Amino acid sequence: MKIAVIGTGYVGMVTAAGLAELGHRVIGADKDGEKIGRILSGVVPIYEPGLDELLAANIQKGRLSFSAELNPVIRDADVIFVCVGTPQHADGSADMSQIEEVSRLIADNLDRYKLVVEKSTVPVKTSHWIKRTIGLHKKTDTAFDIASNPEFLREGSAVSDFLHPDRIIVGVETDRARDILCGIYGRFKDRLVVTNIDTAELIKHASNSFLALKISYINLISNICEKTDANVEQVAEGMGLDPRIGGRFLKAGIGYGGSCFPKDIKALVKIGEDLGVDMSLLKEADRINFDRVRLVIEKVKQALWILKDKRIAILGLAFKPETDDIREAPSINIIRELVREGARLRLYDPQATDNMKLVFSPEPGRLEYFASPYLAAEGTNALLLLTEWEEFAGLELDKIKGTMANPIIIDGRNIFAPAALRKLGFEYYSIGRK
Ligand code: UGA
Repeated sequence: MKIAVIGTGYVGMVTAAGLAELGHRVIGADKDGEKIGRILSGVVPIYEPGLDELLAANIQKGRLSFSAELNPVIRDADVIFVCVGTPQHADGSADMSQIEEVSRLIADNLDRYKLVVEKSTVPVKTSHWIKRTIGLHKKTDTAFDIASNPEFLREGSAVSDFLHPDRIIVGVETDRARDILCGIYGRFKDRLVVTNIDTAELIKHASNSFLALKISYINLISNICEKTDANVEQVAEGMGLDPRIGGRFLKAGIGYGGSCFPKDIKALVKIGEDLGVDMSLLKEADRINFDRVRLVIEKVKQALWILKDKRIAILGLAFKPETDDIREAPSINIIRELVREGARLRLYDPQATDNMKLVFSPEPGRLEYFASPYLAAEGTNALLLLTEWEEFAGLELDKIKGTMANPIIIDGRNIFAPAALRKLGFEYYSIGRK
């Protein structure tokens, strides 16, 4: 089987490298020739632990290559994984134009049977449109199949998620498609879940929205903890020990971000509403998430009162650790609000600085980027922690305290122990606990 992976974003790069690692011959393709040029010269366009090594090893073994020539790549492929972006329209719905473009390219190059696999997150019923588009534009009477194989990769652990999946959803409508796709994932036989295509498409949106709901739920509970003596970490632990609930994704904080949850929950709301389903449960989860920014700003004001000209260190810009991704990161809205209030910001992130500079250009004395958390903290009136990078847990807090103008820490991710911080002489604020 020759496999083409169209789109070399997070999903495409990991899928291409992962499928090659499973022993398949894979070509990753993207219409962005410059990007392909960089990949071919060994520059991985994203920061994802383990990905560089996986790509290098499989390119070296001759199983993986990349190309910007989409037509020949599609013609040559037996199976085409579609991994292009499905960004968000202003109304929350997914912009499917890139999927349509690829469908038309596939139609142009359909000279023998091919299996087209949707990997990008798409609204339920998208396969119907891909099938129709290919059917309308194909130039020969060649048969083809569509399948849905949603990805469940988490940024920061995407390689390991690909190679050690909890489940692999295979949404198909023919035996031929089922056999091909199950064959590709033969190594994970016991993890395969075969469904129809609508079901597979919906499993993806339903999973992400449920996880987002879980986070908003614990954030809601943390609001109650803040007004009482309850401790949200212990509430989550106590809840999570019930296997029906489970402890994961019950970490209270500044809210979920990234390219998936915020977009997917809005997309599912739109899908449901278009079908006449009342989606207020998910709308409320999304609103609770949005409200986290206000909560953080309130905490900063509780500590500093007037924010104008106050120096604030911000540690952590990425939407979560182990990634340079800042898409929909809560840090963006928090920084925007602090800038609006006239605060002077000193920012640090181990990986995401370059990306954040594209959103907020450095401005001496007002918004600056630093190469270490210690430099960022120098002379500040408060330190705001927004991403739980491991290196922050190991900070030499004595050293930090020595350089800060006021030893105040606002910990948006609950990475420090309140008692220990207070013992060190910090005024310490965290989420849902005293
Ligand atoms: C998410 C899903 O976890 C993946 O299964 C899915 O494949 C992916 O979306 C996708 O659709 O492509 P990802 O966005 O990479 O993965 O990141 P998560 O680890 O799920 O975290 C999302 C956000 O939730 C982060 O901002 C994180 O800080 C926040 N979060 C997570 C919490 O606030 N609390 C938690 O307990 C867990």
